Amino acid sequence: MLERPYELIPVWERASELASAFRVGIGDRVQRPLQTYSESLATFEAPTPETGSDGVAIVEELARLAEPGLHAMTGAHFFGWVIGNSHEVGVAADWLTSAWGQNAGNHSATPAAAAAEAISARWLLDILRLPPSASVGFVTGATMANFVCLAAARGEVLRRLGWDVEQLGLYGAPPITIVLGEDAHSTVFSALQYIGFGHASIRKVPADTNGSMLPDAFAQVMEELQTAPAVIVISQAGQINSGAFDPHTAIVESARKHPNCWHHVDGAFGLWARACPDRAFLAEGVDGADSWATDGHKWLQTPYDSGYAIVRDPEAHRRAMTIAASYLPPIEAGERDPSHYVPELSRRARGFSTWAMLRCLGRQGVGEMVDRHCHLSRLMASLLAAEEGITVMNDVVLNQIAVRFGPSEPSELGDDLTRKTIAAVQAEGVCFAGGAKWKGHWIMRLSVIGYSISEVSARESAEAIIRGWRAVRG
Ligand SMILES: Cc1ncc(COP(=O)(O)O)c(C=O)c1O
Repeated sequence: MLERPYELIPVWERASELASAFRVGIGDRVQRPLQTYSESLATFEAPTPETGSDGVAIVEELARLAEPGLHAMTGAHFFGWVIGNSHEVGVAADWLTSAWGQNAGNHSATPAAAAAEAISARWLLDILRLPPSASVGFVTGATMANFVCLAAARGEVLRRLGWDVEQLGLYGAPPITIVLGEDAHSTVFSALQYIGFGHASIRKVPADTNGSMLPDAFAQVMEELQTAPAVIVISQAGQINSGAFDPHTAIVESARKHPNCWHHVDGAFGLWARACPDRAFLAEGVDGADSWATDGHKWLQTPYDSGYAIVRDPEAHRRAMTIAASYLPPIEAGERDPSHYVPELSRRARGFSTWAMLRCLGRQGVGEMVDRHCHLSRLMASLLAAEEGITVMNDVVLNQIAVRFGPSEPSELGDDLTRKTIAAVQAEGVCFAGGAKWKGHWIMRLSVIGYSISEVSARESAEAIIRGWRAVRG
């Protein structure tokens, strides 16, 4: 028998105690890491271990070394990037996933992991109101979801031209033109890069002041591309700085006129507006696309890492991703192999945490949460805009707020004041927000997406930001 240097259960109990203490105490933590990266490196610095040690001691040491360099991203005063709360139910499901140790590549090796994915996929499509026959790949996040969907797009538009990209590769293939909005997310460019599209193959469509593609400009580009052999259109549901949506009904209509066009939607967080009756109009028409990328670790509040690559045509999806090996059992009709829809073979069973969060919130809970976050965003925007010298730069249609300080000042001074205000707010540590460049200007970007954000924490955070601005304004 294999000897273990530790008792199995005590180490898990201790890890659970430490995790609970961290989460319960999150409200008392300063809203920024207490250490810089170099300080964290110094904290972890140690020679390569020559021998093992006791498991309980290891998790205690890990928590002691890591905690000063952790960010309270699950706190109610956290508004950085676009980050969900790693909800405790999703985390618990994720712990079970790790404890069960399932390699989710194959459905007959781990029927439960594959079944949880299959059922969660059906629920996701239902809640997001996407075609029920679409296929869903459980990936690490929206970047990989974009990658998977765009690989399916590339294969399918070339297949229609008689070119088998899975066999022949891209050298010598008919050209594909990529069309996207000028305010597309940077990771879409990463995904395009991974599948062999350089920036020169991209046509950028101008966007309005909120980052939404101009429908006439899009129609014009599509008109010009009418004789192009293949086109992939990438639109956006939820712009990272403004939360804006591209005009999907018009995009779908123009895209359909092209004889060989695939339309993909990057809906990392915005696709969830479809689950909220009051906000669904923003994503009207999205279901007319061919593929969709979204995240679980944003609005569904699953722990990292969790994203979904959704493709209308499951065959195109499978062709792009299938790993065929003689030792892997074939699938029967009606079966679904998790590895057929993602790049990896061996991976964690991501379906369990998605299943748990969908079960925890339900259709109504997801819709109510999205609605609550949208209301809180508008509340924060109005509190901030009421202060002299603060301007909300975007139309707050969803959950993202772009804020600029000293906007009547010349551009460089306004940038400087905005950066200083961000630094002041982060130094105080009551709430956390980061910065970004938006339409050529520095902004503070707030993302109201964490499950624990409440009206109280939203008001306290707006007050902290105003306090930071007043200190900078002097
Ligand atoms: C619109 C959009 N697309 C893609 C991504 C990338 O998502 P992920 O970091 O989960 O890969 C993001 C991240 O914020 C996003 O906002």
